[in-house]
Amino acid sequence: MITEAKVRDTLAQVNDPAFEHDIMSWRIFKSCEVSGDDVLVKLEIPTHAYPDAAKRELHSRVETALKGAGAKRVTVMMEVVTAHLPAPSDKAVLKGPKNVIAVAAGKGGVGKSTVAVNLALALSRTGAKVGLLDADVFGPSIPTMLGPPERPPSAAENQRIVPAQHHGIKVISVGFFVDKDEAVVWRGPMVHRLLQQFLGDVDWGELDYLVCDLPPGTGDVQLSLSQLIPIAGAVMVTTPQEVSIVDVVKGIAMFEKVEIPILGIVENMSYYVCPACGHHDEIFSHGGGKRLAQEVGTKFMGEIPIDTRIRFGGDAGVPIVVSAPDSENARRFTDLAQKAALAVAANVLSKPKRSPRLAVIK
Ligand SMILES: Nc1ncnc2c1ncn2[C@@H]1O[C@H](COP(=O)(O)OP(=O)(O)OP(=O)(O)O)[C@@H](O)[C@H]1O
Ligand SMILES: [Mg+2]
Repeated sequence: MITEAKVRDTLAQVNDPAFEHDIMSWRIFKSCEVSGDDVLVKLEIPTHAYPDAAKRELHSRVETALKGAGAKRVTVMMEVVTAHLPAPSDKAVLKGPKNVIAVAAGKGGVGKSTVAVNLALALSRTGAKVGLLDADVFGPSIPTMLGPPERPPSAAENQRIVPAQHHGIKVISVGFFVDKDEAVVWRGPMVHRLLQQFLGDVDWGELDYLVCDLPPGTGDVQLSLSQLIPIAGAVMVTTPQEVSIVDVVKGIAMFEKVEIPILGIVENMSYYVCPACGHHDEIFSHGGGKRLAQEVGTKFMGEIPIDTRIRFGGDAGVPIVVSAPDSENARRFTDLAQKAALAVAANVLSKPKRSPRLAVIK
């Protein structure tokens, strides 16, 4: 005879295949109903990016375990509920977005915005609700990279800002409000206030992920963000050569200081394959990102080669994840999005359910 207690005991021994962690302590198990020899199990999948193959495997592990424990018929229901930490307080600046993912680098021009845009779009293609905040207030490039919006930003009746919408994601950027050729000069406190507005006064609605494209380096924007909102994690972008790697190390050190978890490192512009002759050229050297990830003890999240379509997509406003979603390099971004979302979920599920602390900069 199977009982609810036996179901729970049995499932405490079952690991989910994406995290290889038991489904009880990581709160993937939600509830169960037992009627006679039949068992109904409800599971909460913590991210839309959870791979389909892992869902099938999880289903089969649960079913096998419960049948081994005496159940005759097992029904497994899965619902995606994006895992997130509770807000730091009721007065939290940011309401709506569940997880903020920062895309950062030490150096300029290594592809942060390209990665941020394609990462956000790839996350949205998993079915998640996604926003993109262009936190590069000094050199906003998101409006160019996303092209004309489906809906431009506007003022809501309640004095709040309705974000623009591009390719199904909500977007806000200083670039929507200043002239393209105007030089933007912001002092630290102004940057702080502007970010506070972009986070608090923008009607983001409910979002699973808010991706933040950061300016290069370790300056005011990074510090302000860490003080204003809890950041679920940072994806660090580097190119393979030493000058970029050295600066990423500084970026990682800064994030660690303000307790922002590093989700992993992605190496952009890893190599170039000539479309005419197939020659593989490592223009900026190769493997620096992977080496760095090993050295600092974080995940290597993959390589993205130099691809004319990636550059063109950025200039023309139709990123490769939208223009050629089945291409190999779009799939690299999809893969990156999956790894980032799983890393965020793992960070949340591995912690007890308590509110995160915000950085206090002394
Ligand atoms: N993998 C790639 N293949 C081809 N072009 C790329 C690739 N990654 C980025 N680019 C191009 O390189 C340029 C710089 O990229 P991007 O603007 O994303 O860098 P960034 O790190 O955000 O720069 P900044 O520090 O100025 O904000 C852009 O023209 C972009 O289209
Ligand atoms: Mg940029």
